[in-house]
Amino acid sequence: MCGIVGIVGQQPVSDRLIGALKGLEYRGYDSAGVATIIEGALHRRRAEGKLVNLQTRLKEEPLSGNVGIGHTRWATHGASTERNAHPHFSDGVAVVHNGIIENFTELKDELAADGAEFQTDTDTEVVGHLLARYRREGMRPQEATRAMLKRVKGAYALAILFEDEPSTITAARNGPPLAIGHGDGEMFLGSDAIALAPFTNEITYLIDGDWAVVGNSGAHIFDVDGRPVERPRHISTAAADLANKGNHRHFMEKEIYEQPEVIAHALRHYINIIDSRDMVPGIDFAKVPSLAISACGTAYFAGLIGKYWFERYARLTVEIDVASEFRYREIPLPPQSAALFISQSGETADTLASLRYCKERGLKIGAIVNACESTIAREADTVFPILAGPEIGVASTKAFTCQLAVLAALAIGAARARGTVPEDELQALVRSLAELPRVMGHVLESIQPEIEFLSRELSKCRDVLYLGRGTSFPLAMEGALKLKEISYIHAEGYAAGELKHGPIALIDENMPVIVIAPHDRLFDKTVSNMQEVAARGGRIILITDEKGAAVSKLETMHTLVLPVVDEIIAPMIFSLPIQLLAYHTALFMGTDVDQPRNLAKSVTVE
Ligand code: F6R
Repeated sequence: MCGIVGIVGQQPVSDRLIGALKGLEYRGYDSAGVATIIEGALHRRRAEGKLVNLQTRLKEEPLSGNVGIGHTRWATHGASTERNAHPHFSDGVAVVHNGIIENFTELKDELAADGAEFQTDTDTEVVGHLLARYRREGMRPQEATRAMLKRVKGAYALAILFEDEPSTITAARNGPPLAIGHGDGEMFLGSDAIALAPFTNEITYLIDGDWAVVGNSGAHIFDVDGRPVERPRHISTAAADLANKGNHRHFMEKEIYEQPEVIAHALRHYINIIDSRDMVPGIDFAKVPSLAISACGTAYFAGLIGKYWFERYARLTVEIDVASEFRYREIPLPPQSAALFISQSGETADTLASLRYCKERGLKIGAIVNACESTIAREADTVFPILAGPEIGVASTKAFTCQLAVLAALAIGAARARGTVPEDELQALVRSLAELPRVMGHVLESIQPEIEFLSRELSKCRDVLYLGRGTSFPLAMEGALKLKEISYIHAEGYAAGELKHGPIALIDENMPVIVIAPHDRLFDKTVSNMQEVAARGGRIILITDEKGAAVSKLETMHTLVLPVVDEIIAPMIFSLPIQLLAYHTALFMGTDVDQPRNLAKSVTVE
């Protein structure tokens, strides 16, 4: 999941390529590079690490040229060095690539036997060498591109410069997204509409198998068989979404504090739908025999919490798995079923593949997405936008709680459609949801000092265990994920009842155990599990509500007390201390909160 850009311009492009790459840095920040054509010769600048290093490099050694391509890398094949940074050059050809060339070993052997000299450890370099070979054999750039695409297998978005064709960029897509931007006498390429937003809002998305020859007055698009095709132009709203940190230190902090506002926005949309008593649009929950849910990472944990709600309120059986397993499990899914795919970016490769798997089997597809112009949104039958606004911090926060709010609303809608909950109880659930933004605001205002104290303690630890039951179990896993991904402290989330089946062996006075336990019907059971921790000298941080704090007689290292809320909104309320604990612990650890190591915001490879 790298980011790629290209400009066929009438003015120098290197600054503008950098501007576009800034919008794509969320896709990877291991290295970056740009290449242009100057007087018929390819030139490039590359730098290891974040884009800022490339900017420094360009200040020292500026790069002119009116046509160019750029790349920000999340390393898959080959270390994050300047040598492996894109663009890759091979004999008059420059290539930037997002994805994985799966048959690169076979192609590399073949090309090396033919005399090609490889300069990098990447899979991408075979693309350039194949193109260079076809050019030497006398093919024009367009023919060479087509011949190359017939040889490579895998996932790719590609942008290619040919030294002797200095006024065009050739592009191709199979898997990762790629969009063409239409300007005034200039044309653009980018991995998404946000990258293109500084230049144009007129966008054409390539679809899988498409490739294109982009000149400064337009683009010729071809399908997988080489036939010219027309793809629609969209007016993108991405420019309006360009975000800044405001008064916050990090995007993650801003996004945590934005939650009451964005959830209110999302709920207004969904409560209107539930209140109108219409069926949930797109999915006839009254008729579906079961529901499949799939997603990755944080979005998967949101789906797991959704499973509890659909089963409990709508009495609907839910099959759920992480998308990387779901897509290969050969799950027998009744074609009358519906499937929900949850993705902030709407581009996650495994989630998209799971969606396609279900679509091929005739299921009705719903997508719970933040990026409504994304591939997952475009391929779904029905889109349920989470309306969180752009999420820039790599660690997902507001997207998670907005996904939960949408899932809760859909579960209530499904319960109404199936007649599984009496109307007065449904009304009470809707009222609780409506309360959510206010309670969230109150919690965010009040817990900061305790969070800072606890985070200081956590930052001294090597391992942390999170426990919970019911919907607090996925939340425990989400808490552990959040902590490890931004503070690099090892953490695990467990079902509290599973403790005695193994993890209890880890308990000692050095490992804090964070117990997420609102005073719900499972509270007493969780207290028993806490006793087991306390009996072994474990240090408990209990996150509970006022009722839980009043009845729990256990001695804890600290008890963080939240307001008593209805069970259906507890996961969103209890997410707040979980997110803030991870954020402040990362601050104490001095890590790069918004761009943690080895991660990227959009994962478009398997
Ligand atoms: C963790 C995080 C990831 C994403 C996952 C799926 O904080 O953000 O685990 O949730 O990569 O991404 P999307 O939602 O874009 O499909």
